[in-house]
Amino acid sequence: MNTSRKRAVLFGLTLPFVLASASVLNAQPEGQNVADPAHWPQAKSQGLIDSETEERISALLAKMTLEEKVGQMIQADTSAIKPNDLTKYPLGSILAGGSSPPLDAPDRSPAGPWIDTVRAFNDVAMQERQGHVPIPIMFGIDAVHGNNNIVGATLFPHNIALGAAHDPDLIRRIGAATAKEIAAAGIDWAFAPTLAVARNDRWGRTYESYSEDPALVRSYAGAMIIGLQGNPGEGTIQTGNVSASAKHFLGDGGTANGIDQGNAQISESELSAIHSAGYPPAINAGTRTIMASFNSWNGAKMHGNKSLLTDVLKGRMGFDGFIIGDWNGHAQIPGCTSTDCPATFIAGLDMAMAPDSWKGLFEKTVQQVRDGTIPMARIDDAVRRILRVKFKAGLFDPARPYERMTDLIGHADHRALAREAVRKSLVLLKNDGVLPVKSSANILVAGSAADNIGQQSGGWTLSWQGDGNTNADFPNAQSIYSGIAEAMEAGGGSATLSTDGSYARKPDLAIVVFGEKPYAEGSGDIRSLEFSPGEKQDLELLKRLKASGIPVVSVFLSGRPMWVNPELNQSDAFVAAWLPGSEGGGIADVLIGDSSGRPRHDFAGRLSFSWPKTAAQFSLNQGEPGYDPLFELGYGLSYSNPGKVGQLAEIAGIDGTPLNKSHFFTNGRVPKPFTLQVEPAVTRAPVDSRTKQEGATQFRWQDGAHGMISIDGDDIDLSFETNAEMMLKLVYRVDNPATSKVTMNMGWGAIDATSLFGSTAGWQTVRIPLKCFVKHGGDMARLHPVLSFETTGSMTVSFENIELATQAPDGICPSGR
Ligand code: BGC
Ligand code: BGC
Repeated sequence: MNTSRKRAVLFGLTLPFVLASASVLNAQPEGQNVADPAHWPQAKSQGLIDSETEERISALLAKMTLEEKVGQMIQADTSAIKPNDLTKYPLGSILAGGSSPPLDAPDRSPAGPWIDTVRAFNDVAMQERQGHVPIPIMFGIDAVHGNNNIVGATLFPHNIALGAAHDPDLIRRIGAATAKEIAAAGIDWAFAPTLAVARNDRWGRTYESYSEDPALVRSYAGAMIIGLQGNPGEGTIQTGNVSASAKHFLGDGGTANGIDQGNAQISESELSAIHSAGYPPAINAGTRTIMASFNSWNGAKMHGNKSLLTDVLKGRMGFDGFIIGDWNGHAQIPGCTSTDCPATFIAGLDMAMAPDSWKGLFEKTVQQVRDGTIPMARIDDAVRRILRVKFKAGLFDPARPYERMTDLIGHADHRALAREAVRKSLVLLKNDGVLPVKSSANILVAGSAADNIGQQSGGWTLSWQGDGNTNADFPNAQSIYSGIAEAMEAGGGSATLSTDGSYARKPDLAIVVFGEKPYAEGSGDIRSLEFSPGEKQDLELLKRLKASGIPVVSVFLSGRPMWVNPELNQSDAFVAAWLPGSEGGGIADVLIGDSSGRPRHDFAGRLSFSWPKTAAQFSLNQGEPGYDPLFELGYGLSYSNPGKVGQLAEIAGIDGTPLNKSHFFTNGRVPKPFTLQVEPAVTRAPVDSRTKQEGATQFRWQDGAHGMISIDGDDIDLSFETNAEMMLKLVYRVDNPATSKVTMNMGWGAIDATSLFGSTAGWQTVRIPLKCFVKHGGDMARLHPVLSFETTGSMTVSFENIELATQAPDGICPSGR
């Protein structure tokens, strides 16, 4: 049913805007999305196939039931499964997503609970039971910059920073250290490295990409795989190595407008030449797994693209490991749901990441093999690949020598390596002679990020988004300020921390540390490359210090190059420090010289992403027509190679005000770009909220007439937020309870919300999972209007706030009274 029909059925009325836009909304992007393998580079898996192992696999396959085979092909998340479930559902793998905790322990936990968690699942999988073939599980985690979900782990700089180091051997060593910290936590599989070639810096995952330059990604891919897994055919869990997962295949960094999980509207030759660059070397280095991408290529979702998953990846590129799906990524294929998707397995996916949908998917898939929808040969091929990886990873051997070595987590050698990586990744954009800082001086260290290990570590740090962290969560880490203070004291000088930049005694110089707040995936997508549009406290701070005659050094933390011309103009020196991770001391190593001002380490970093001249240069890539950056790819000053940056133009070139798609009602008003529609049967009046005069709006429904209020917006897409378990948070007060049914609607998914408006209880906060609307038929990809409330009875309700919020345990899906 199309959206206008649905609308008519639901509410007995049609609105002209729906009719007008319906045909446009249903249009599918067109273009070629079937790949021809002949146009792709060749490669060959190394170290995965040998006849002895293949025979052992055949012997196991011969004993396994269909349920056991299908189970191998499904992965569940720790937040939604218990070890005992494996007795009934013999799944092949467990993951812990970015915000998923170990069993019976807090989300932020040290290695102990993680070891216990993996053991608990494996114990059930390996049980000798009647009619059960014991097969070890794989346990996967997003160890994307060190084993970053474990408290105390070494946090390496994010990939964008490593790209600036231009040092494949450093990458290999980081991979090896990360593997040891993963193995020490009892885990055997890293969802890394990301081999995206990010071509549009608006993308929230730009920092997970080594470079916009395919050649650099190509030179790192094999090094990282070998670091994590060991040399092909040699590394196992017993040698402190883990399985890698090159991700996300394919075109994640090439989506239109840099939209996460979006559509790469590009030619086959561009997809191959640019975006596949890292895969042949990763395969040649023996990568055991490759993760399918959320994105589409010319309108077709990668999770369902047989020509790319099977013909190119397994055929042309000779990949003998297995393809893992992304987080319910299969559910985005048209015709699929998270629990029903034969198309993905037929296309070549070997294991589906079904965090919370594993049970339904398992049952449906078994049925679909039985009824012939999915050929048995496809199942046998997938399971063979999975078992092959498990053998090659050493998982059938119960010895886990590294598991007890928890002192490897945050080990001094790893931290020294991370600090080396920080030093090598700093890019000096500007230096008018104030760096290096003499360590005998007295300096001020200012800025909101100066003493903030969470911020310097970015997303994918203890929590998915990297939010909610305090310095106390990082027992083995050092803040940037702390590293500077140490270096200054060693030279007889001093460093005073003052985040707001105030001082009692005028300092010789100020280092200001500021930048982007942590984010991950789609919530990091931005509209313009202007740094912090609308909020200019950092710039004001730079201006204030500069106006007082204090030389200013900016240390800028970001997950991408950004338009910072005004900040550059206010700085005597400016360092792009990216997201350096736990070793803040690496910044001081390069910025702070000895007591007479001689450098201790020179700058070595060079841009792996072109730096924009305006905020509108989102897609600024060397070699493309009209390339006109502020600092080109490879740029980076040093003490031995100084340069001059003059006064820069301060015209952003685009309105950077972030596109609001999360706040629908704020202090009683509907903020831009949304508008409020109120049907005549409803009256409204401003009322006071708990904290603000006229901070809420009261809506009064009259009895007998059908009345609706709706918040309208222009085709807002909340599919990412829905997928990420976000919730709609309402802050409201019922002034007169509803006398009949109240319907709340999002994306044409209507829920019976009567229970929320049934009694007066003062101001209250309610969270409704966005998925609740999907359950009732909602399509969250094109909200138009965003949200509505309607009833035919009477009721009076005052709304203060309606906004998106992250997942919380008290979320409810109301139904009826
Ligand atoms: C998980 C992440 C995952 C994301 C997918 C989150 O709840 O913690 O690991 O990537 O959902 O949308
Ligand atoms: C991300 C992947 C990640 C997975 C598991 C997804 O949302 O796209 O990169 O490995 O979640 O957390």
